[in-house]
Amino acid sequence: MSDDSRPAPAAAARTAAVIPAAGRGVRLGPGAPKALRSLGGTPMLIHAVRAMAASRAVSLVVVVAPPDGAAEVKSLLDAHALPGGTPSGSWGRTDFAVVPGGESRQESVRLGLEALPPGYDIVLVHDAARPLVPVDTVDAVIEAVRDGAPAVVPALPLADTVKQVEPAAVPGDPEPVVATPERARLRAVQTPQGFDRAALVRAHETVTGDVTDDASMVEQLGLAVVVVPGHEEAFKVTRPLDLVLAEAVLARRRLNDGF
Ligand code: CTP
Ligand code: MG
Repeated sequence: MSDDSRPAPAAAARTAAVIPAAGRGVRLGPGAPKALRSLGGTPMLIHAVRAMAASRAVSLVVVVAPPDGAAEVKSLLDAHALPGGTPSGSWGRTDFAVVPGGESRQESVRLGLEALPPGYDIVLVHDAARPLVPVDTVDAVIEAVRDGAPAVVPALPLADTVKQVEPAAVPGDPEPVVATPERARLRAVQTPQGFDRAALVRAHETVTGDVTDDASMVEQLGLAVVVVPGHEEAFKVTRPLDLVLAEAVLARRRLNDGF
């Protein structure tokens, strides 16, 4: 067997992260687009980019900005670049790019994927709205993709029991319960989700229905999706109370870091 017939070593695969940040944040209430709202004095998006750049494996971050906000996001990233005067478009060893997003999260992710240069065989998709995900979670996702899974999602067991209902025609009316899935077998899914790039690109070219995460698109292709342990600090900032929790997590980190 010649060397050429062997697959390239998995560790050589380069990893890029796509960060959809083009949403308005309607559930958070009136104000700036959610990704640009401040958390501990720094825009949420900057926290999310730092969380990806914190992984030594991630060498490119593509931010998908609000459709009319790409220039603003680009200057924001330059302004928050690591100290040491790195050139525009990079944070130390991590390059970044900004593209305008679309109407849906799905479309925004697709636009981010289209902006990826060749050479990145592993792609993470990470919500800007999950600014506090720890680097260990990011690395665990990447490692599972390197180990051969076409799609990897971090997830946690549920605290609440979940009911499937027949949605009421009039909001607020009582809703009949249809089923109660066994809680021990359910997981609440977070990001970053990690993918073999070719599988994710094919999923975005093939799957047309509405989805709320990228892994479910790969699932629809019939490919294996695996779950690795998520982290409670990877929660999504969705409603006003989530901002309170995020500020508290940051305050706890500052205390622990001795600031
Ligand atoms: N997102 C995106 N493009 C869209 C919609 C959402 O890039 N057209 C991104 C958001 O910026 C966010 C992530 O997808 O980082 C998860 O979406 P969600 O938490 O629903 O954020 P929003 O859509 O901004 O919030 P809401 O649904 O309350 O408006
Ligand atoms: Mg949304």
